[in-house]
Amino acid sequence: MPTTQSETKRKSAKGKAAPDAIKLLKEDHREVEGWFEGFENTNSAAKKQKLANQICLALTVHTQIEEEIFYPACRDAGLELDIMDEADVEHDGAKKLIEEIEAGKPGDDHWDAKVKVLSEMIKHHVKEEEQRDGMFAKAKKADLDLDALGEEMQMRKDELMKAAKRSN
Ligand SMILES: [Fe+2]
Ligand SMILES: [Fe+2]
Repeated sequence: MPTTQSETKRKSAKGKAAPDAIKLLKEDHREVEGWFEGFENTNSAAKKQKLANQICLALTVHTQIEEEIFYPACRDAGLELDIMDEADVEHDGAKKLIEEIEAGKPGDDHWDAKVKVLSEMIKHHVKEEEQRDGMFAKAKKADLDLDALGEEMQMRKDELMKAAKRSN
């Protein structure tokens, strides 16, 4: 009998199935979008600060697992270099803004505008990753083990999150 997908789905150390790479990355995107929306809809400085902290940490970890694991796998699998190069440059732009947001606080000159511009940059970047024929669609068609990559990224994400919480 042929093995089904669910039978071959890898399990993490805890025995819980890790999401495949694309599902994991898309879930990160949705989470951050929700926080940007919350930021847009509040006037409370405390809430803005909390949301900005969450956004900056999540995006730092997200871009790192993409850069360490997912993007190199995409390059190895032969995805177009211009797509991958553009994504790298967009990550660099976001990181600069994240640094400035983390160094500032609500009420600082241009601080709200920086969060707004970051949300626009991320919206554009996420579209490039998720759109029809975008990076993720191409990754799905390429010869990539998305389950194994998902497992690896989930582990790295947990590790980075833990380290960030320890240093706070
Ligand atoms: Fe992403
Ligand atoms: Fe990305």
